[in-house]
Amino acid sequence: MRVNIYCCLLACALGCHVSADLFHKVVEERQVVILPCRQPVKNKVTWSRERDGRKVDILTVDGDRDIKHIKDPGKRFSTFADKSLVIARADVSDSGKYLCDDEEAVELTVIPLGTRIHSVTERTSFSLNCPHDVGGSHDPGWRREMAGKEKPIRSDVSTESRSLIFTEVGPGDSGLYYCDGKPAGYLNVTTQKKPDGGGKGKTPPPTPPTTTPPPENSAPSDLWPVCVRTVVVVIYLITMISITAATWRKAGQIQNQKRPSAERGTDP
Ligand SMILES: *[C@@H]1O[C@H](CO)[C@@H](O)[C@H](O)[C@H]1NC(C)=O
Repeated sequence: MRVNIYCCLLACALGCHVSADLFHKVVEERQVVILPCRQPVKNKVTWSRERDGRKVDILTVDGDRDIKHIKDPGKRFSTFADKSLVIARADVSDSGKYLCDDEEAVELTVIPLGTRIHSVTERTSFSLNCPHDVGGSHDPGWRREMAGKEKPIRSDVSTESRSLIFTEVGPGDSGLYYCDGKPAGYLNVTTQKKPDGGGKGKTPPPTPPTTTPPPENSAPSDLWPVCVRTVVVVIYLITMISITAATWRKAGQIQNQKRPSAERGTDP
């Protein structure tokens, strides 16, 4: 159980920062999802999900007790001590808007296993192909979903030989695209605010970032719980290692004390 929780924490430490500045979260099916509340939490918090304009309560955390409001035979829903909602194995049907005490926390899109995420820069052209295994229709039907919600595709996006052609991708084009009902890909439209922004592989220009960029203001509030958790895990590990080391050292000293006397006893 303890190991499980640490695995989740590790997964969060590695993955959460990616979408920390986004209200929208995209995960692949079967992944662990951790949804934090956006506001300071009370002792009792209710998590709910909104889809198709309908709100369904999932669970209430009362102290350290989870009270489920839905059937959860797979025990997929649980919470952390900070009242974050944890979905153990995400399902496509988990997509939707998540509310922490009726306050919007995260918009979640769970994409089917193997769906490709295309990160496309705003105002560039892009074409999304229909998967090969979709039936022979020459003019397949396209639709777009975001957080489990049907979203219209812009009217100036054209279709051409089983592809969706964006002459200029806009910020509102993000989403999970289906071609004749089969997932064709997730379009992640990225803004081009800073020329060196975000790109891990690119080498940034030598200008030092002295000014504080306003869009990153929301990041620390999301990163803070992750940092606290990481520190707690590290302290726990150090404590366990030092206790083990001390026990070994003590055991070694006792044996060293015993051995010479035993040798003296047998030798004439
Ligand atoms: C979308 O692109 C941005 C910028 O490249 C990246 O940080 C983010 O992780 C991407 N989102 C997904 C769901 O891949």
